[in-house]
Amino acid sequence: MVDLRHPRVRGKEEDHRFLSRILLAEERKRVAREGPPSLWLHWAAKEAAYKVVCKEPRSRPAFRHRSFRVEPGAGPPTQAREGRVWYGGVAYPFQTEVSGEEGWLHVVALAQENGGTSLESVGREVALLPDGPADWRRLWRGRFTEAEWRSVHSFPSAAARIRAREALAGPLQLSEGDLEIVTGPGPIGRAPPVLLVGGRPFPGDISLSHHGRFVAWSAVIADRQGADHGR
Ligand SMILES: CC(C)(COP(=O)(O)OP(=O)(O)OC[C@H]1O[C@@H](n2cnc3c(N)ncnc32)[C@H](O)[C@@H]1OP(=O)(O)O)[C@@H](O)C(=O)NCCC(=O)NCCS
Repeated sequence: MVDLRHPRVRGKEEDHRFLSRILLAEERKRVAREGPPSLWLHWAAKEAAYKVVCKEPRSRPAFRHRSFRVEPGAGPPTQAREGRVWYGGVAYPFQTEVSGEEGWLHVVALAQENGGTSLESVGREVALLPDGPADWRRLWRGRFTEAEWRSVHSFPSAAARIRAREALAGPLQLSEGDLEIVTGPGPIGRAPPVLLVGGRPFPGDISLSHHGRFVAWSAVIADRQGADHGR
């Protein structure tokens, strides 16, 4: 997700070194035509696809934005839009959501081989980052198990987990405290999250994002009968 009013986001469409590091030639032309939200659509779609790639078995490539090619479907970048990101000859479908009023853009991407999950069935939410008290570590420590606390590296990282747990507990008929979102194998803050119930990985998938004023999550939860629950 991208906070479109973040100070480091504003004016980036004029930063030619940045544009040439992030975008391929055809993407630069499109972004020049469509304006700033299109730049962040490309940025977020590439990051979303990279996160999917990292979840594939034995896959953890270094992230180079220019190795990912965005092919957005028709429509203005200020509205929900679908498209594909190409990486290594494979297409990763994505869907954007945008709030012009609140100033954010959120992209969800899926693996092509995703067991029949559709983009529409992915549960997702963008929420305001709550105010973080200076001593949030002390105040919030009790809300996390040891394993989940080890995965938390900042207040937004903690807030995104709490928000996702609160939202997912209802559909799973569990209480928020039964869920943990831990970092899988890899460095904290640079590895995919894993949803645990009762300390065991829960079928499905979860993704987190935090930027500026917002936290976001997306999830597909497959129940034991194999049905998918979005929200
Ligand atoms: C994936 C990546 C682009 C996300 O960047 P970010 O600015 O943290 O973006 P977001 O806020 O959207 O996402 C953060 C969340 O994404 C998840 N995440 C982080 N890295 C991830 C990865 N590689 N794959 C899937 N999910 C990942 C985490 O849940 C993280 O939240 P948490 O740290 O609180 O658990 C970042 O991890 C990155 O730059 N990785 C590339 C590093 C690289 O290539 N290094 C070279 C190694 S050889």
